[in-house]
Amino acid sequence: MHIVRKVTDDLYWIGANDHRLTLFENIHPIPEGVSYNAYVLLDEQTVLFDTVDWDACRQMMENLEYVLDGRDLDVVVVNHWEPDHAASLQAVLARYPNAKIVSTEKGFMICRQFGFRTEGHETVEVKEGDTMSFGTHTVTFLEAPMVHWPEPMVTLDLTNGALFSADAFGSFKALDGKLFNDEVNYEEGWIDSNRRYLVNIVGKYGPHIMKLLGKAAPVLDQVKFICPLHGLVWRNNFDYLLDKYQHWATYEPEEKGVLIVYASMYGNTEQVAQALALELVEKGMTNVQVRDVSNTHVSYLIADVFRYSHIVFASCTYNLGIFPPMHNFLLDMKALNVQNRTCAIVESGSWAIRSGDLIHDILDKEMKQMTILNERLSVASHLHESETEDLSILADSILDSMRE
Ligand code: FEO
Repeated sequence: MHIVRKVTDDLYWIGANDHRLTLFENIHPIPEGVSYNAYVLLDEQTVLFDTVDWDACRQMMENLEYVLDGRDLDVVVVNHWEPDHAASLQAVLARYPNAKIVSTEKGFMICRQFGFRTEGHETVEVKEGDTMSFGTHTVTFLEAPMVHWPEPMVTLDLTNGALFSADAFGSFKALDGKLFNDEVNYEEGWIDSNRRYLVNIVGKYGPHIMKLLGKAAPVLDQVKFICPLHGLVWRNNFDYLLDKYQHWATYEPEEKGVLIVYASMYGNTEQVAQALALELVEKGMTNVQVRDVSNTHVSYLIADVFRYSHIVFASCTYNLGIFPPMHNFLLDMKALNVQNRTCAIVESGSWAIRSGDLIHDILDKEMKQMTILNERLSVASHLHESETEDLSILADSILDSMRE
């Protein structure tokens, strides 16, 4: 049975949704699923833009046959060769032996590395600025290195304004019947999935995203549809989306607010985190998010980090080091190139308290443009009433830094 949506009169979404996969890339939880988007253009030639993950292959093949309605497939444009998009290419080529494949030189290199079989099919290497006509539609190609792998390109249909944007503008979350951004309440239902996808999958490559946006700027006024490989197709409100991407790609916080991430073995450090949150709220800063590093998957923490301006790291000392899940969180922040945040540290332990110095070193020496407040709170086993003033001083220093 086909499950297909029209993007325009002659362009179809023929992808598939996946709610069975629990971990995207076998690391990121996707409790609301994910979509793999592929698109077919019916022009004088028939053109498939990308395929889907192997798990979704059968649905895409049924969709493709339905839309082609007996026509042969002439061209497959592969914008991105990561297997969640290219794994079904072989099935497509086996079913449509006359299809030629269009991609970049690096794309075909990745294709060979994975051992995807293209024998017997014409391959056409394209590069930045090349154009190709399929009849009434003419497309142009823009290379998009490191968004998110070395080889992607994006393809702009100059005739209908569809931008096939590869991973750029993608999102976690299955579409479940919807397709367009104006068919959902994005602020309530989608932005968290979009942010978590973008910053965890492509967050490391912010400068490359900005480079792509810069290259695309002269043609942006021609774009009518943004068609990514995961998530919603955007057909309006581009300024809103581009503003979000601008923040994420330049590591600018989206909003003033405090993320408190705590690591607590017996609840004592958790108590400090809660007391600090209350202090901040009572002093007027209500945009406070408290997270337990032990039971919050790091991908959600990273999404919060890209959202908020201030981060409090509250960690017990463990084996004379940082509590391991907190250490892992910090290393993931570093790996994703997080920068330009104001940080406060709460350390705890029952002897030889060291977590604060170690967290400070990672923030200061291994990350960029992190401002670390001097007012560190050091807690021996349990926060006592006598330390109320220390807690208040820490809260004040966070609030003062927000006013600067
Ligand atoms: Fe969804 Fe980089 O692939």
